Amino acid sequence: MKVLSIFGTRPEAIKMAPLVQAIERAPALNSIVCITGQHREMLDQVTTLFGLRADHDLQVMLPNQTLNGLFGRTLERLDAVLTAESPDLVLVHGDTTTACAAAMASFHRRIAVGHVEAGLRTGDLNQPFPEEMNRRVIDGISQWLFAPTAQSAANLARENTPGQVLVTGNTVIDALAWTSGTLAPGSERDLALRAKYPWLAPGKRLILVTGHRRENFGQGFDGICAALTALAARQDVQIVYPVHLNPKVRDTVMARLDGRPAIRLIDPLSYLDFVWFMQQAYIILTDSGGVQEEAPYLGKPVLVMREVTERPEAVRAGTVVLVGTDPARIQSEVNRLLDDAPHHASFCRRINPYGDGMASARIVSALIGEPVNTFQPPKHD
Ligand code: UD1
Ligand code: UDP
Repeated sequence: MKVLSIFGTRPEAIKMAPLVQAIERAPALNSIVCITGQHREMLDQVTTLFGLRADHDLQVMLPNQTLNGLFGRTLERLDAVLTAESPDLVLVHGDTTTACAAAMASFHRRIAVGHVEAGLRTGDLNQPFPEEMNRRVIDGISQWLFAPTAQSAANLARENTPGQVLVTGNTVIDALAWTSGTLAPGSERDLALRAKYPWLAPGKRLILVTGHRRENFGQGFDGICAALTALAARQDVQIVYPVHLNPKVRDTVMARLDGRPAIRLIDPLSYLDFVWFMQQAYIILTDSGGVQEEAPYLGKPVLVMREVTERPEAVRAGTVVLVGTDPARIQSEVNRLLDDAPHHASFCRRINPYGDGMASARIVSALIGEPVNTFQPPKHD
């Protein structure tokens, strides 16, 4: 069977990498990789780490690209690849424009679609925007729905989506388990990274920040920057923020936060380096989807700067809190974690509601018709 895997953004690349590796190891599957280039630099950081090679590169990326422009370029350029390759199945990931346009292009060509990370929902088309719409469209036209958790599978059941649903766990945990496994404290890589970032203050607690969501542009980012400015007045913390390459994010964050001694604004980190930073962090503040899934696996407290999440499992388990973008709320939740050690400790249980490192293997087994044991989250106290 010829399987074409397509991805274009950083999170898709991270989450598709272990799956592509597993497909390439399966003798019954013929793997074709197509990248859209929706993110150029941030994608290259990932493909290099995982040793992925692209058979096709659609080169759709433009500075300040519009959603419609990006969607149109991806739809049109992928069509030529589908005609040339005639895959039996196209695998798309998650909720990006790349994934939605690729699913539609395949649908128009009557090629089966497999949706990796199917079934996530907030129930609000505006949050995350436009990702919630992308997910619903992809799920509605996919033959295979690889749901990461029982909850995401239940969302699909409620919508009566026609595809076959399988609960696999999230492939991000496959990627993270491998990556974090190479970063044991005292290991060669750990020491090399310590030396690479000599400005990390050993006596201060690290607050690691990421933020890039469209629905947070404007008021949301104003609130996030105000909260970080206030927190930077504390003597016992260092804030590190790898700033996303989207100019709408960069311009605001640089203008509001650059030049403050306790805040280090840096370029996006390679996945290896970012996982190491997560390991060093005392608290992670983020609006990212993937980081919400990774931090609980690493036993790190996460405050999510969104009003709603499509990943409620770790919130229920008590290691993730939704704090929104109100500066006073962010500040008070961070201060509580910093000043109340038992409260912080209660967040530091390593839990893995999102996967067990076997998601890619399950997906490959399903594709080749082998029996699959669905993902069961471990019981936590
Ligand atoms: C996209 C996804 C979002 C995902 C995020 C991960 C959509 C609609 N949104 O949003 O779901 O969470 O990626 O990061 O698909 N840029 C670069 N180089 C890069 C990356 C971005 O220069 O490597 C700049 C470009 O100017 C680009 C802009 O960022 O035009 C916006 O990128 P885009 O992919 O359109 O949107 P994201 O906000 O990154
Ligand atoms: N990440 C990274 N470098 C960074 C910041 C994040 O490699 O500087 C990783 C992170 O570990 C996670 C993924 O990028 O796996 C999340 O991507 P992003 O926040 O861009 O998108 P989202 O998950 O919100 O769609």
